[in-house]
Amino acid sequence: MRILSGIQPSGVLHIGNYFGMMRQSIALQNEGETFYFIANYHALTSLRDPKALQENSRRVALDFLACGFDPNRGALFMQTDVPQVTELAWILSTVAPMGLLERAHSYKDKLARGLPATVGLFSYPILMSADILIYDSDLVPVGKDQKQHIEITRDLAVKINETYGQVFKLPEPRIQAATEVVPGIDGQKMSKSYGNNIDIFGDEKEIRKRVMSIVTDSTPVEAPKDPDKSTIVQLYSLFASKDEIADLRERFKKGGTGYGDFKKQLFEKLWEYFAPMRRRREELRRDQSYIDGVLAKGANQANAVADQVMTRVRKTIGLA
Ligand code: ADP
Ligand code: TRP
Repeated sequence: MRILSGIQPSGVLHIGNYFGMMRQSIALQNEGETFYFIANYHALTSLRDPKALQENSRRVALDFLACGFDPNRGALFMQTDVPQVTELAWILSTVAPMGLLERAHSYKDKLARGLPATVGLFSYPILMSADILIYDSDLVPVGKDQKQHIEITRDLAVKINETYGQVFKLPEPRIQAATEVVPGIDGQKMSKSYGNNIDIFGDEKEIRKRVMSIVTDSTPVEAPKDPDKSTIVQLYSLFASKDEIADLRERFKKGGTGYGDFKKQLFEKLWEYFAPMRRRREELRRDQSYIDGVLAKGANQANAVADQVMTRVRKTIGLA
């Protein structure tokens, strides 16, 4: 089974990325061959600062390794190291119905947030489909917001298969139900672009400040609080054991503890959870050549598969 996913280097990785996508992607290394890449072509749709793009791309690679990706059991690479995906994206665009892309939530959301309506942003799902189909991927672990993009991928694969005969495998999404949407400090979906993120590897002072500014209601200290409506409880549940979660919920219901104390408890838990990964990250950061080696090896593995698939595609559609 081949498992593939990508993450945009459009900013610094946050705990929504970790629980929505990275953790399950890394765990899936036990179940099949993993291909994970840094989607720097995609990031161009929102980031036009060359230095930031370069730095973020390297940082995503470092963070992935620090969080436990094992490069001996899978490929980690830059999207741009497999430039054939842009050729496949063109081929797919020739069968992609306009209406299908016009219905994409992610495109509409991005316009609503003020991103300019470029052709690249509009055809973003086509490049993503190429990313997936070019590796004959079986499974794509992502957060819930990416589900529609996988459906579009399947639609495009079917279109090609119906037009030219069997060319592509149909990939399945894998969405972790328990953490499908990790809330940010304002209670909305955590996202780099909403400014409500808590970064995985931010510095201690900044993360503490972020946790302490989680939005709460004005229930007084002594009054009982509703654990089901609390972002603090939702976030704490990502890090804590069953018993610890039950204990926190009880203390919410009992009253007598203020939100500030609960936030401190959340901060401690979060900080401790990422401690081993922070240590690993410090070690890796000192060895840039190690990361270069991992990315080069990943690019070789990815190109080997992409070349095969593209030979098949070109032959089938009359471009060979
Ligand atoms: P952002 O919204 O911060 O720009 P991306 O779109 O780069 O994040 O997302 C990268 C991966 O992380 C995707 O698989 C996405 O579904 C997942 N993800 C991002 N934010 C969250 C969240 N708040 N909860 C769950 N998964 C998320
Ligand atoms: N669109 C994804 C995101 O914003 C990133 C991505 C690009 C991706 N290509 C992909 C994810 C292929 C999975 C498979 O998170």
